[in-house]
Amino acid sequence: MNSPQAADLTPIIESLGIPQIQRHLFLCTDPTKPKCCPKEDSLTAWNYLKKRLQELGLDRPTELRPDCIFRTKADCLRVCTQGPILLVYPDGVWYRNAMPEVIEEIIQRHVLKGEVVAEYAIAQHPLPDPPPSPSV
Ligand code: FES
Repeated sequence: MNSPQAADLTPIIESLGIPQIQRHLFLCTDPTKPKCCPKEDSLTAWNYLKKRLQELGLDRPTELRPDCIFRTKADCLRVCTQGPILLVYPDGVWYRNAMPEVIEEIIQRHVLKGEVVAEYAIAQHPLPDPPPSPSV
């Protein structure tokens, strides 16, 4: 049985800068069951993260900085305490209490300099290399 043809998503992929992603940040935001922090705190944290990545020109590739930082709202990262919880890949660093002041530290030290913000890191587990898979 033939699979249906996929629409050409190349323009979307390129406009998002997916091939240039350097780090991907997941933030527990507006969860269905807010356990790690009040919903309002998670939205404050998300809005700050989004605004700062934009202000610093990190949210999309530019001529000066050909790579970019991706951000994604996560409904729940399953830690469910001391939130908002923020996860940085590919480094696999999990952070607690990621409110604006902590997010600023994470941006300035981890995102821009590659230094883990140890005061707020609760775990570090970079994902292992994936097994070989069919090329896309
Ligand atoms: S509700 Fe935020 S990690 Fe589960």
